[in-house]
Amino acid sequence: MKTVCYRINAVAPEVEILDEAAQLIRCGELVAFPTETVYGLGADALNREAVNKIFIAKGRMPDNPLIIHVSSKEQVVDLVKSIPGEAMALMERFWPGPLTLVMESSPTVPDVVRAGSRSVGVRMPRHPVALKLIERAGPLAAPSANRSGRPSPTTADHVRHDLEGRIAAILDAGPTGMGIESTVLQVIEKPYQILRPGGIPAEELEEVLPGLIARGNQIHPADKYPHYQTRADIIILSANEDIKALVDRNRHQGKKIGIVVHNVVAYSHIFDEMDKVYRVEAEPELAGRAFYSILRDADDCELDVLLFEPYAEQGTGAALMDRIRKASRR
Ligand code: TXA
Ligand code: MG
Repeated sequence: MKTVCYRINAVAPEVEILDEAAQLIRCGELVAFPTETVYGLGADALNREAVNKIFIAKGRMPDNPLIIHVSSKEQVVDLVKSIPGEAMALMERFWPGPLTLVMESSPTVPDVVRAGSRSVGVRMPRHPVALKLIERAGPLAAPSANRSGRPSPTTADHVRHDLEGRIAAILDAGPTGMGIESTVLQVIEKPYQILRPGGIPAEELEEVLPGLIARGNQIHPADKYPHYQTRADIIILSANEDIKALVDRNRHQGKKIGIVVHNVVAYSHIFDEMDKVYRVEAEPELAGRAFYSILRDADDCELDVLLFEPYAEQGTGAALMDRIRKASRR
């Protein structure tokens, strides 16, 4: 299959391109599109054959459910059994934005979208291209637009690399804004559980629903699905680490080493011994933008070890640390 790539304006998307993409979706084809978090791979959420193509193109396990993307709160009504009052309050505050709400599904949502589950995840993205595409084509089932086991794509190039020839089209609106995926929150049973930390921090959810968000060391159910695997072993640096010894040890074994740092002063003494230094922002929100690109680049450079300076586990730092940890697990 030939994958058509359209350049599209991120702020004021060209109507002709949106119309062509919507037409493809209506014909049951797959179109990759930008959201404020990462690129998504969209199919008509109510067309089971189209949704099935997503699992084939990505090589995704059929038991891993997809998020339905909407362009208005009204569209949610047909997708779920009922909208709990608390969910409504969260939508009012955080939509459009990086918050996915898992609610009881309506029977109209095809089984394949929910991977057989009785619940469905819904979110309204905050990106003009995504919103205008959904306005034309209707709700889109969309996972991140990477091959399963690869980092989420934050540029159209990443999508092309993973899915060229496997999908109908890519809407290229430049790099995405956040770079880390949406927060997935279950709002069926109290206390509501964060299934995946993401763009909206737990602290902000708690402001809207005080005492209703589960706290503590939860195992995130979404963790049961395989994550991206980098070629490099990822090591999170700890404050009292003897980094010099760590680097020497790996050097002796002939390993190629990279480091991702925001506190340049604290680590500059070992930069000369690094094959690659990635300087990132001190603000986790900003650092998140570069995260998946760095993982891809580390693989392209054939690094064997990638050292990460940690972020504080609060606000969006928690989501970034979650992704670093997932990448570091073998
Ligand atoms: O930011 C995002 O969420 C991006 C953009 C494209 O919107 N999408 C995304 O989709 O990251 P995906 O499929 O790569 O990750 C969705 C996660 C998966 O871990 C999935 O298991 C979980 O959300 N999920 C989806 N529907 C669910 C449901 N009904 N119950 C529990 N978990 C669900
Ligand atoms: Mg994904």
